[in-house]
Amino acid sequence: MPLEAKPITMHLLITGGCGFVGSRIAKWFLANEPLSSGPLSSGPLSSEPVPGSYPDRRAPASSGDGSSGSLTPGLKIPGLKITLVDNLMRPGSQTNRAPLECLGAEVILGDLRQRDFVESLPACDWVIDCAANPSVLAGLGSAALDAPANIPSQANQSPSQNLVDHNLGGTIHLLEYCKRHRAGMVLVSSSRVYSIRELSRIPHQIKNSVLQFDWDRIESENLIPGLSRQGIDERFSIEPPLSLYGATKLASEWLAKEYSNAFDFPLWINRCGILAGSGQFGKADQGIITYWMHRFLYRHPLRMLGFQGSGAQVRDCLHPDDLARLVQLQIGESIGESQGRQTQQPLQNQPSLRSKPIAVNVSGGIESAFSLQELHEWCARRWGSERFGAVSELQRIDQPRPYDAPWIVLDSNKARQTWNWEPLRDRLSIWEEIAEHAEENPNWLQISGGID
Ligand SMILES: NC(=O)c1ccc[n+]([C@@H]2O[C@H](COP(=O)([O-])OP(=O)(O)OC[C@H]3O[C@@H](n4cnc5c(N)ncnc54)[C@H](O)[C@@H]3O)[C@@H](O)[C@H]2O)c1
Repeated sequence: MPLEAKPITMHLLITGGCGFVGSRIAKWFLANEPLSSGPLSSGPLSSEPVPGSYPDRRAPASSGDGSSGSLTPGLKIPGLKITLVDNLMRPGSQTNRAPLECLGAEVILGDLRQRDFVESLPACDWVIDCAANPSVLAGLGSAALDAPANIPSQANQSPSQNLVDHNLGGTIHLLEYCKRHRAGMVLVSSSRVYSIRELSRIPHQIKNSVLQFDWDRIESENLIPGLSRQGIDERFSIEPPLSLYGATKLASEWLAKEYSNAFDFPLWINRCGILAGSGQFGKADQGIITYWMHRFLYRHPLRMLGFQGSGAQVRDCLHPDDLARLVQLQIGESIGESQGRQTQQPLQNQPSLRSKPIAVNVSGGIESAFSLQELHEWCARRWGSERFGAVSELQRIDQPRPYDAPWIVLDSNKARQTWNWEPLRDRLSIWEEIAEHAEENPNWLQISGGID
């Protein structure tokens, strides 16, 4: 019997929804709303009825940044509801609240460390977990978010305890929530789950501010398992030290897998490299592209740290719209599977999902890789002229930063093959978007805590 296309009611709860990644994912879904790449029928996943029928909140077809052209063709879902949860501890996150409410999202302010608060949240079909203190320096006592002024209860607590409470404690409460509501979870994880010791062991030389590798030898001798010229793949070591931040993300991943398996709710884990785009909050230890561009444009001093002060360190980058498209594919496929469900088999064991790895690297890959020196030269070409005044001082300091590594490029081939997905936004288009945002928002670093 052919499937009848009925309207689907879908409720997404995005934690950290006023942060950079959470807000961009929310905007993408509110603008695009396709939750399936295939023919779907109806029905929310949660075992409890989703309250009410939701008004059609569809925003105009374009999200204003060119992302509408990147839609996977699919069924439009008129009943999409998006709830955002945030404690607004990230400086700048408060600026996202009103625009997201205007687009149709509901914003609930609260702290995921509070179990009672999480228990009080409305039932949803999927949690997209984007709440964290996402700095590799977090918990050490030096990062700005270690004691945010707007969360006074934290002031006297140890920074490391705070970090664990936010990043892991919050996730545990959300896993209990998913268990109770049988909601699926998409966990936005990080490249920082990979071993800092192994990352530091990658043999390299620095010549003229450029990292050089003997890839033929590294690959033929399999010097470091999981490493190739394509990047670091999922087999790369996860042996500590990772950073406190990386360890909380890895612990969240492990617990999420256990909960998903034990309590039969779908789970996808996306280990992301640098995510970047307009609206990112820029600090030296988080949001480096935004931070560097703003400081260059508005003539604040800049410092290249470590690696002989060369700026040779390399990272990849991905636009959050590309992550949102992947999340859409992951949720869409899981919904399709649940509708064909005949048995009480665990959802993740259903035929088309069984073969898919739960955790994948998600990145712009080697094509998107760049060094800090390259970013600096790009800024100089764009803003170095006298029209903007004298360029401010650049200090080159050969002093290592904790948990820094020369080359962090994720190989995302597994995600590409598994989900038939690939990033549509290239590095230069991402940089251009951030640069335009910087030109239009001269106070952005003050808003996002990026001024020392
Ligand atoms: N931005 C990146 O380059 C990047 C890369 C890899 C992974 N990630 C992951 O993506 C997610 C989002 O990162 P982001 O760049 O948007 O960071 P962000 O700081 O911009 O957003 C995080 C949001 O979570 C909120 N939050 C933190 N703790 C909370 C709590 N206990 N209760 C409620 N809200 C809380 C903050 O106020 C903030 O709005 C994080 O999980 C991070 O680990 C980010």
